Amino acid sequence: MTTLIDFLSEKVGAAFVSQGVDAACGRVQFSDRPDLAQFQCNGAMMAAKSLGVSPRVIAQHVCDILGADKDLINVSLAGPGFINLSITDALLARFTFSQLKDPRGGVPFFADTDRQVIVDYGGPNVAKAMHVGHLRASIIGESVCRILRFAGYKVLGDVHLGDWGTHIGMVLVEMKRRMPDLVYFDENFSGPYPDQSPITMTDLEEIYPAASAACKADEALMALAHAATVDLQKKRPGYIALWRHIMDISIDSMRKNFAAMNVFFDLWKGESDVQDIIPPMVDDLCARGLAVEDQGAIVIPVKSNDDTKEYPPLILYKRDGATMYGTTDLATIVDRVKNYNPQRMVYVVDQRQHLHFDQLFRAARKTKIINDDVELLHAGFGTMNGTDGKPFKTRAGGVMKLEDLFEMGRAKALEKLSETNLDKDIDDAELQDIAHKVAIAAIKFADLQNNRIADYVFDLDRLTRFEGKTGPYILYQAVRIKSLIKKAQAQGDDAASEWEVSDTDRALHLALQRFPQVMALAAKNYTPHVLCDHAFQLAQEFSAFYTTTHILSETDQNKRRGWVGLCQATYNQLEKTLDLLGLEIPARM
Ligand code: ARG
Repeated sequence: MTTLIDFLSEKVGAAFVSQGVDAACGRVQFSDRPDLAQFQCNGAMMAAKSLGVSPRVIAQHVCDILGADKDLINVSLAGPGFINLSITDALLARFTFSQLKDPRGGVPFFADTDRQVIVDYGGPNVAKAMHVGHLRASIIGESVCRILRFAGYKVLGDVHLGDWGTHIGMVLVEMKRRMPDLVYFDENFSGPYPDQSPITMTDLEEIYPAASAACKADEALMALAHAATVDLQKKRPGYIALWRHIMDISIDSMRKNFAAMNVFFDLWKGESDVQDIIPPMVDDLCARGLAVEDQGAIVIPVKSNDDTKEYPPLILYKRDGATMYGTTDLATIVDRVKNYNPQRMVYVVDQRQHLHFDQLFRAARKTKIINDDVELLHAGFGTMNGTDGKPFKTRAGGVMKLEDLFEMGRAKALEKLSETNLDKDIDDAELQDIAHKVAIAAIKFADLQNNRIADYVFDLDRLTRFEGKTGPYILYQAVRIKSLIKKAQAQGDDAASEWEVSDTDRALHLALQRFPQVMALAAKNYTPHVLCDHAFQLAQEFSAFYTTTHILSETDQNKRRGWVGLCQATYNQLEKTLDLLGLEIPARM
């Protein structure tokens, strides 16, 4: 089904064509001044350049033609050559109605290929507790996957675990210091190693920060950690066995954290998965002269002639033979190309890693590891800061564990829910489920509504806000619509098949028509925040409509059933929008 904007652009485009200019000049958009008109077209300025005539003259001609169109009203010329127009209520009603009947809610497919898109997101390092620093990478990435899938792309989301770096070496050294008698450290032990992990996730959560602090404070210890990392990478059996335990307990805890956020990966791959392809990859690059020795290290120089400053090479092997972050990322590209032949790879990773991805992409192109037709993209995100403007910390100054943040959110949600007495007539399991959904909506929406690339301030007090532009407010409107539809159905009012638009519901009809363009924008720029804006606008328009209109008690049955249809269309679109953001609507609130 065509979108309303495309439908109108075709009409206006045809009027431009009859003036001898490109149909593209007729692109229509929602008006910046809804008080003057519903839609506008600014193409006369562009057309004027190619025709050498004043934009107002062209715009006036176009207005004259469009004036005769029975779908349009109030076509007028404004300012230097803007064309303002509105549409008849009949046309608007027709479009909302087809949205309701269309399983995709009127959103066309945008995908231009059926090759895979791989989204690399989440990316936690194993052995550490997941903390608020992982929030953005997980929830923005999840939303990007959902948006691209709905746009029609074949998407594979990959968690790309940090499971092979120095942080593992640090943990190994610290464990050896604490438990020197473990068989994993005995070089003469020939196995088999125990099935049971010697430590739990709770132990790890304490061991990792201690190890990291100790290594940072003591160079000799750090050297040991590096050596242990190299030994692990050389697959020393005891280290591999212990590493497996660390992996298992970490992944188990990660899965819980991700599921709590409604984040689900297709691939649970990590840095360790590509270790075997690194040596042949590096050998090949050296043989082709693409990787070279530099002060004992092996690197790929990626400085280009256009760079005015020094530009660091991508390091493949450090002097001690250890592989680097860039080495595994390059090998991961080799692996993905071989196994999935992707058309695009999108990395939803902290913007502060921009240089790394720039080096990586340059190296991948220069070495032809990736073909020119494959897109590589770093969809970076800004930092979540505390109210002091520095990266978010707990009140005590530490990093906040994600689980603790969720728990705080749930407690706040329960408090709020008890204010409405919702807790009185449902069982505890349901109440906990609602509280969880509300808490996650509060946290995720507070984050996702910010432009991906911008830093933003996360204020814990946001969790207590249920009004205004918040996740809970939008969920609440969705729950209200749902319950209204239920009541309507109970009194026999199904959605009508013919509607009239009226003064109280016109704005809601128009808001619904924005969805296809909002989706297109989100898919093009990987920006969930435009969907947050849309969800909020829908919720507000619905609320305004609901307060001014007595839907269920309306005596005119056609009107009543028309409104039920409008409510259903609104609910469908709100539910879809929230789903694209990774939010779930509770049964009640
Ligand atoms: N593990 C990395 C970190 O904690 C993020 C991984 C991002 N993905 C990637 N392919 N480099 O910073």
